[in-house]
Amino acid sequence: MQSLIDKLHKEKTLQKDELITLLTSITEEDKKYLFSKARAVADEFFGNRIYVRGLIEFTNYCKNDCYYCGIRKSNLNADRYRLNKEEILSCCEQGYGLGFRTFVLQGGEDLWYSHEEMLDIVSTIRNAYPDCAITLSLGEKTYEEYLELYKAGANRYLLRHETANPDHYSKLHPPRLSAENRKKCLYDLKEIGYQVGTGFMVGSPYQTTENLVEDLLFIKSFEPQMIGIGPFISHKDTPFATFPSGQLDLTLVLIAILRLMNPNALIPATTALGTIDPNGREKGILAGANVVMPNLSPVGVRKKYSLYDNKICTGEEAAECRMCLQNRMKKIGYELVVDRGDFCPIK
Ligand code: SAM
Ligand code: FES
Repeated sequence: MQSLIDKLHKEKTLQKDELITLLTSITEEDKKYLFSKARAVADEFFGNRIYVRGLIEFTNYCKNDCYYCGIRKSNLNADRYRLNKEEILSCCEQGYGLGFRTFVLQGGEDLWYSHEEMLDIVSTIRNAYPDCAITLSLGEKTYEEYLELYKAGANRYLLRHETANPDHYSKLHPPRLSAENRKKCLYDLKEIGYQVGTGFMVGSPYQTTENLVEDLLFIKSFEPQMIGIGPFISHKDTPFATFPSGQLDLTLVLIAILRLMNPNALIPATTALGTIDPNGREKGILAGANVVMPNLSPVGVRKKYSLYDNKICTGEEAAECRMCLQNRMKKIGYELVVDRGDFCPIK
């Protein structure tokens, strides 16, 4: 197995059947070897520097009905909220003071904010914080809308492909949504010039090892600047309430494989990873991740952005959350940096 890991390290990809072997037959010893290789590659590109992104979850209204998601429109138990422009800007102000140089605006697909309003919010942040990156995570939009948001000052966009396999996609989403359109959006974003992030949930219902390999190879061919993966975690008020959550170890193995396949990509140790294991984010970093995303949303709304059960960081102030992560990273020999943390192509 270690020779397969060496091959992955050297060639930055493997054949489909080799990836299946790696995922299904990896031993504890091999995992240690894989993680150390992945960590060494991340260290080569980023040293012991961990980039931070300030996450602003500005609305939990959503017009979509993804079967796995706690803020799906059919969940009548969700306590809905929206932040207005002033509230979003005050999150940015607080975040800037805490050393954040990337703001991530994430929300459900909420048409209450008109396109013009979103343009206004983005351009106001752009003018107020010229030295910061603005990342959007607003779901599927038209080419023109993405283009105008880019021109208004957004630099990056996060849109997980969720699963590269169309059949699997249709088991996770209602018929209105398709893997094809999801991928079209990703290619549109890339063409426009955004730094694009994609990714998937590990252990989502009906996922097979073949699906995971398709995900890895899709990501390799798409060449995203950012790759976000985290375990699926069930939410009690969704159709997937009784499905088991994704596994920590498999998530870590996939992070490490992704690092070896995409050496300079920006890969977060996600909140979902920290939710399934108290040290999940530290373990993610040690398996090759190099980004963390503390929460900048006002404490009053944190619990309401409940995509899955038992989400961490819902009671902490932004400053506490940042300090907590800083200490956690320090303990494993890494430091949070005040930096936009842009993607750098390999020269
Ligand atoms: N609406 C935007 C979109 O669809 O890209 C952004 C918000 S969406 C809630 C952000 C991500 O949360 C999704 O891409 C999905 O992978 C993740 N997510 C949703 N429900 C989840 C669950 N139950 N467990 C883990 N991750 C989940
Ligand atoms: Fe949010 Fe620890 S990272 S409280």
